[in-house]
Amino acid sequence: MWTVNQDMKVDILRAGIAAPSADNSQPWRFTWGDDHLDVRIDATRSGNVSDTRYVLSDLAAGACVENMVIQGRSLGYAAQVDVFPEAGDELWIARIRWRRDPDGQRDPLAAAIDSRHTDRSFPWRGAIAPSAQARLDAQAERIEGARLCWPRAGREKSMALKLVRLAESLRFRSPALHAELFSSIRFAAGWDAVCEEGLAPATLAVERPMRPAFEAMRRPAVMRVLNRFGAAAMLGWRSAWLPIRLSPGLCLLVVPSAARTDVFAGGRALQRVWLEATLAGLSVQPYAAAGVLSLGFVPVEPHLRQALSRLDAGLAPLCGNGRGLVFLRLGQSRSAPPRRSGRRAMDSFGPG
Ligand SMILES: Cc1cc2nc3c(=O)[nH]c(=O)nc-3n(C[C@H](O)[C@H](O)[C@H](O)COP(=O)(O)O)c2cc1C
Repeated sequence: MWTVNQDMKVDILRAGIAAPSADNSQPWRFTWGDDHLDVRIDATRSGNVSDTRYVLSDLAAGACVENMVIQGRSLGYAAQVDVFPEAGDELWIARIRWRRDPDGQRDPLAAAIDSRHTDRSFPWRGAIAPSAQARLDAQAERIEGARLCWPRAGREKSMALKLVRLAESLRFRSPALHAELFSSIRFAAGWDAVCEEGLAPATLAVERPMRPAFEAMRRPAVMRVLNRFGAAAMLGWRSAWLPIRLSPGLCLLVVPSAARTDVFAGGRALQRVWLEATLAGLSVQPYAAAGVLSLGFVPVEPHLRQALSRLDAGLAPLCGNGRGLVFLRLGQSRSAPPRRSGRRAMDSFGPG
């Protein structure tokens, strides 16, 4: 048996931590064995309202593991990923075993691990060339069962827009989702700085004149009053419909079922697609609410449950035989976002 050396541990963990996570929650815990790494969901940073069945955490875990597998390969190690190794332990996501494979092929996606990021700006230019689309499709399909669906112009595109807008507006209409969303925004950081966990306001692309109103909305009473005047629908339009309408590309990541193994695989595919898009010079913004809410695991207030059924029914024709998890908005941004989300220090992710 060989032992993973300290440099390799650091390289692998750095790649994993660079992965995306919903609300920048970074819900991962790592424990090294001699020749393997155990990846767990951090119970203190997961399981909130929209993560009740760990859908968001499983996606983030899949993205994190994929980054580590890609990085390992670029260091000359092949990985074997055992998923959910202990049936009774819902937080234990994977054991990754590495073996030396000096002749194995390096994965070109490794070059994008550090530069991949979320971009919430708009409008975006360009067109997604068929060759670029084919490369993104191929990356999703490298993970068994995963694929991308591209709503075509016309009916499908307008249905997709309607669903994403509806889902985003629910995040402001549902008191539980509103509380969760605003608790992840670190207003204390101000509008210029970044923070090492959660969403820094500077990464949200909120227009300067709108910032005081947006900050006031964190109070449930203010949100309730504004919602009487249609604020949630307006916010759904501004945060989803308009940016998507003003971007050349939109696709939906689809997996065979809502089983946790499939969602985890979806996270791996999400990361491969995002890294390939980064290499192709494309900006990416994921929209997870439509897919995640449509699965029916999120305990929203009774008067909003009908909206969840509408999401489920509306997504079905877009997904064919499968479950849509995350929409991705794609295009060419004028410039890189002024701020990127930070990450916690490596030793906060476990014993190491
Ligand atoms: C499962 C998942 C769901 C996400 N959902 C959204 C979303 O609905 N809207 C959004 O703007 N960003 C979304 N993101 C992006 C995260 O907020 C982002 O990855 C995180 O803040 C870290 O920033 P970075 O991607 O720039 O490293 C999501 C990311 C993941 C992995």
